[in-house]
Amino acid sequence: MNFSADFCSTTAVRGGTSPDSATGAVLTPIYQSTTYQQQALGVHKGYTYSRSGNPTVSALESALGALENTPPAVCFATGMAAISALLLSVLKAGEHVIVSDVVYGGTVRLFREVLEHFEVSVSFVDTSDLVAVRNAVQANTKLVFIETPANPTLKLTDIAGIAKVLIGTKIKLVVDNTFLTPILQRPLDLGADISLLSTTKYIEGHNSTVGGSIAARDETLLERIRLVRKTLGTIQSPQEAWLTLRGLKTLPLRLQQHCANAQRIAEWLEQHPKVARVHYPGLPSFPQKELCLRQQLLPGGMIAFEVKGGAQASIQLLNTVRLCILAENLGAVETLITHPASMSHAAVPVNTRERTGISDGLVRLSVGLENPADIIADLEAALNGVNSVEEVKEAGQCVTR
Ligand SMILES: Cc1ncc(COP(=O)(O)O)c(C=O)c1O
Repeated sequence: MNFSADFCSTTAVRGGTSPDSATGAVLTPIYQSTTYQQQALGVHKGYTYSRSGNPTVSALESALGALENTPPAVCFATGMAAISALLLSVLKAGEHVIVSDVVYGGTVRLFREVLEHFEVSVSFVDTSDLVAVRNAVQANTKLVFIETPANPTLKLTDIAGIAKVLIGTKIKLVVDNTFLTPILQRPLDLGADISLLSTTKYIEGHNSTVGGSIAARDETLLERIRLVRKTLGTIQSPQEAWLTLRGLKTLPLRLQQHCANAQRIAEWLEQHPKVARVHYPGLPSFPQKELCLRQQLLPGGMIAFEVKGGAQASIQLLNTVRLCILAENLGAVETLITHPASMSHAAVPVNTRERTGISDGLVRLSVGLENPADIIADLEAALNGVNSVEEVKEAGQCVTR
């Protein structure tokens, strides 16, 4: 690893922020104000209207920039708002984007159902294959957009490898780093141009907010993104920014425990007779284990697995767990269990899902901070119930949810 293995705890707690200059409040207050007094026409303290900027949001942006080792990040109302603003900032009609063939379903929907109307063409490529990426580059390619680890299969893409493929071109490399955050993976230090986060997940980490952020070193690009955000009106609210800033302070601690719990649960799942396959970068069986060690500080808190008996068996498991919560979202203190095919990745065409391993039987587990023995006991009880054909048939009704 080419960055400090101290999990950047000091930066997460203190980076980019300082006590409030007006009052000494240790935490930046929630500046719940729409507008700001001007001392004279055009003379102000840096803020004019909260769609353009807000001091609480700025504090979060400075803190995230400190962690990303960039100028202040640009924060948005959601992760999807961040991705949308980025694409609208850099793309023009007639241009082309290469996107990892496994990415969050909302990102697929944005490319397939929105951007295609603006004549932006997209190639979904297995970006773990550097030759495939090189072969997909066209004269009009403007961006390579990767997600690593990929949601939900956890396939990895070699960030430095892709950056090398793009040397000598003007193509920008974007990494959706939501699954790891800059604590566990530093896309910009590995050669990417833009690091993108849904702060809804690990950054805030308590299932309390939605938000997104973009970090980059190119000030001109950041300026353009801020202009698009102001125009679209998709800045984060001060309340959400404050909660996110508070969550950020415990991110290094939380991530270490998420990873420790996930490692233990993945190992347990892998030896369970009713589990067909476990995808977790920390397992010796993970095909890209070496890349994980090279590129990530730890394997992460997300696991994907398949239960023997296919989709219906998995659905029965999802319907039977008690401690694990059947819900969308990931990266929070509560363990959340998800059925990607009908939930997070329902927008991905069926043939793409089948080709890329997002089977109807795939279960995604966002391992939380409960005692891992309790999570295992819950999964054990649910797996023990996965056997009766009648129960499986009954549970199968939920697939249309
Ligand atoms: C990897 C990834 N990127 C982006 C997003 C979108 O974030 P948000 O839900 O905050 O809009 C998600 C949401 O699940 C995600 O998993």
